[in-house]
Amino acid sequence: MSAAIRLLLALGSLFFLSSCSVKPSLRAVQSPDERISLEPFLNGNGKFGYRLFFNGEMVLDSSFFGFEFHQQPLLASGLELLFVEPYSHDETWEQAWGEQRTVRDHHNGLLIGLQEVKEPFRAFSIEFRAFDDGVGMRYHFAADPSAEPFRLMEEHSSFQLTEDPTVWWQPGDWDIYEHLYTRSAFSAIDALAYRNKTELAQTYIPFNAVNTPVTMKLASGTHLSFHEAALTDFAGMTLKIEPEKLRMKSGLVGSLRTPWKVERTGDVSSPWRTILIAEDAKGLLNSTLTLNLNEPNQMEDVSWIKPMLYSGIWWEMHLGTHGWDMAGGKHGATTQRALMRIDFCAENGIEGMLVEGWNTGWEGWLGGDEREGLFDFVTPYPDYDLPLVAQYARSKGVQLIMHHETSAAISTYESQMEKAFELMRSLGIRHVKTGYVGKVLPKGEFHHGQFMVQHYRKVVETAARYGIALDVHEPIKATGIRRTWPNMMTREGLRGQEFNAWSPDGGNPPNHLPTVAFTRMLAGPVDYTPGIVQLDLQTYNRNKIQNTLVHQLAAYIAIYSPMHMVPDLIENYEAEPVSLEFLKSLTLDWERSIPLLGEVGEYVVMARQAKENGSWYIGGLNGDVDFDQLVALDFLEENQTYQLIILSDTEETDCDKNPNAFLYTSGTVEKGNKLAVTMKRGGGFIAVLHPLQD
Ligand code: NOJ
Ligand code: CA
Repeated sequence: MSAAIRLLLALGSLFFLSSCSVKPSLRAVQSPDERISLEPFLNGNGKFGYRLFFNGEMVLDSSFFGFEFHQQPLLASGLELLFVEPYSHDETWEQAWGEQRTVRDHHNGLLIGLQEVKEPFRAFSIEFRAFDDGVGMRYHFAADPSAEPFRLMEEHSSFQLTEDPTVWWQPGDWDIYEHLYTRSAFSAIDALAYRNKTELAQTYIPFNAVNTPVTMKLASGTHLSFHEAALTDFAGMTLKIEPEKLRMKSGLVGSLRTPWKVERTGDVSSPWRTILIAEDAKGLLNSTLTLNLNEPNQMEDVSWIKPMLYSGIWWEMHLGTHGWDMAGGKHGATTQRALMRIDFCAENGIEGMLVEGWNTGWEGWLGGDEREGLFDFVTPYPDYDLPLVAQYARSKGVQLIMHHETSAAISTYESQMEKAFELMRSLGIRHVKTGYVGKVLPKGEFHHGQFMVQHYRKVVETAARYGIALDVHEPIKATGIRRTWPNMMTREGLRGQEFNAWSPDGGNPPNHLPTVAFTRMLAGPVDYTPGIVQLDLQTYNRNKIQNTLVHQLAAYIAIYSPMHMVPDLIENYEAEPVSLEFLKSLTLDWERSIPLLGEVGEYVVMARQAKENGSWYIGGLNGDVDFDQLVALDFLEENQTYQLIILSDTEETDCDKNPNAFLYTSGTVEKGNKLAVTMKRGGGFIAVLHPLQD
């Protein structure tokens, strides 16, 4: 037996929970509730594939695997079975923070060993897991010192659709996820049409592919969302579109510096390729599959990693009234301005305070390719007294948040990172927002390739060692790493609020967040920076935001993040006191979350229960068409009366002409009562329910 096969078998027995071995014959793997069934097969050419069924409906027809290694023949056919090992797992684990306190990991799995029947007799295994909310699949290659190194040119995992569904997609950009989502038939997907989006600081769309998560709706109403889990040392995966064949194929993000896209040594397990499956749109929203496909928490002490609201010196830069740099004469990050913001945070129960533009280097930002050595992550500008600001924040019980805009100059950041984290710790700072604007240096690498996946991972692990939590902008996509590293709190990775300030296309359309809720948000926490309350930015020569005030506030509930910003200018919140009242009462650490209503790109209504006191927060976000529906409050406790506060759009509210009009009502409710949810175009809805003591 070759070393490779011995290792594969060892890998197999790791997951093998019954005591005798199963003779190699293929069998289906089903979700615990038996609604999902994945049926693997070997066809006449020895190609390995599977079909996928949901409630008896075939949702994927014959879909195959294939691997293209450097200077080797394609590994995709002429395979025979080595072993088939079924297993099951049922465990409940607790999150450090999140949308829900506990997560049940209940799945059935199947590990299948395969080998070529002819030379070069390469062997590998494919692993499937079926949960009630979808399936995951990955492959394992055991290290074989006598064979070629693992240098993957391309992965050929295919996903064969059975019809031409409606898809919400963004282009398979190797460098950024800050695109709007398009809704179209699968056969009409044209990612290359996005190539001319010049407002992005980096973009590279080599072929007609989509980024993940990509969500689709079948004629039956079944919804699917394709993504990946546990992307830790691999290239990110886009999905290439074959419009006529109604098929997608993995398209790994590459590098211009190597002919291969992934290079590894030792045993290799790929990230999980995942498919969420639900009978309607809202069924996608509470999936725990991505988290369950990641390794358990590696950190000993997670008690310091607490969800928080944070404010900061930020929006003024996007409005253009202040700058990040000092030379321009409008420096935002001055000591005095920081102290004022800290007071604002302390007065309004906002736990954190971010300061952008505090360190030297911004004069050369966005200035082209000369970015190595530009930023210094330990030297403040002379008009910003960092130790004093940090000390003042501590005295007020506010946590200062550090900012590291790396400008995607990776060696500069990696060489300074530890020193920068040491400085943070010496000042009692435990959170950092990082950013990666611009094309990656070294040239030829892309934000979503293996080189950067490794970098982002290194930052997470180094930060964990220093007891530092992260909010990453221009990140690699979320794939559930937060389970293993709960200090990886939140990230951007979408077209955020900042586009509402300056994007030349007028900002985010009303249906943006109702689309994000069913696409990007399925990957994990989103740092959108909701909560802009002065919505007409024309006095700043900026956009008019296509939302109502209530939409902006409801996003704190409907869009999940353990860190949400309170980004607007202090005077704008003071002019809209209801926003501060709402934010003061808000928590971001949830006992559980329940999706109440939703249609992709149209509306979403989420209910979340606070861990600390059992209060319920309901947040609704609406897209283009006025919305009016009843929600049954059947998730409330029996025999418990709740005090109800509602913030909603009014008949007069209009995101163009009258975005700040809102209605504030209160009352009491009990389980079984119905709540009328009314939202205008670009509007929203908030209900807060506090349990009353008898
Ligand atoms: C892009 C980030 O998304 C934004 O929040 C930040 O202000 C700028 N980069 C500057 O770092
Ligand atoms: Ca950004």
